[in-house]
Amino acid sequence: MKVNIRTPEQLEKMRVAGRLAAEVLEMIGEYVVPGVSTEQLDTLCHNHIVDVQKAIPACLGYRGFPKSVCTSVNQVICHGIPSPKKILKSGDIINIDVTVIKDGWYGDTSKMFLVGKVAGHAERLVNVAQECLYKGIELVGPGTRLGDIGHVIQQHAEANYYSVVRDYCGHGIGDVFHEDPQVLHYGKPGTGLELREGMTFTIEPMVNAGRSETKLKSDDWTVETRDGRLSAQWEHTMAVTANGVEIFTRRSDERF
Ligand code: MF3
Ligand code: CO
Ligand code: CO
Repeated sequence: MKVNIRTPEQLEKMRVAGRLAAEVLEMIGEYVVPGVSTEQLDTLCHNHIVDVQKAIPACLGYRGFPKSVCTSVNQVICHGIPSPKKILKSGDIINIDVTVIKDGWYGDTSKMFLVGKVAGHAERLVNVAQECLYKGIELVGPGTRLGDIGHVIQQHAEANYYSVVRDYCGHGIGDVFHEDPQVLHYGKPGTGLELREGMTFTIEPMVNAGRSETKLKSDDWTVETRDGRLSAQWEHTMAVTANGVEIFTRRSDERF
């Protein structure tokens, strides 16, 4: 496993790309309402990235993915394809996953949105999934091992009687979209890669209300829960610093 260590100049480029990706999620929030199609959301994100940010939507054409962002509604875990036929309704939960390329460097982030009035159990899943991300991030720093991060995420999900998806994981990121290391959202403390200053990666836990098993739909992209129950995911891109972590994709609605 070859894990890159980024120079200060490279980190500055990731800072810029990360800020742009976060800005797309800040921009799209007001449009995530009952009656909008996921294709309309995709178009708004695409145009903002291309026309306003003068950046590139990394998902568009990535391994044949047909749209600029992923929109994953309710039982869809990840990689949902925006469609004019998918109209959001009150009570839905949706993950929008945005990756931009700016000056050759990547920023990758996602968040959950509540559509209209959402059931308490669904909102709770969304909140616990976000807490899982934050608990993972809190541990990031030199000397931490990836198993420590996976463990704290798994613990928090399972303490709430949820499960963690094992078939998909976080990843190294930089001037390519996905690279080593794999960042698992489950694991054992004291195992796995030891983090060092200058490493850059995502943490992006997918938390299921029911069982952890996944099912790939016939479009070869959409990943759903096998049991049909809800799933929630949050993602940030970050770097290991001398004394902790820098989140490149932090939004203004976040406190850290
Ligand atoms: N943004 C996703 C991730 O977090 C990857 C999406 S790949 C796509 O790694 F092709 F589906 F867009
Ligand atoms: Co990612
Ligand atoms: Co992503």
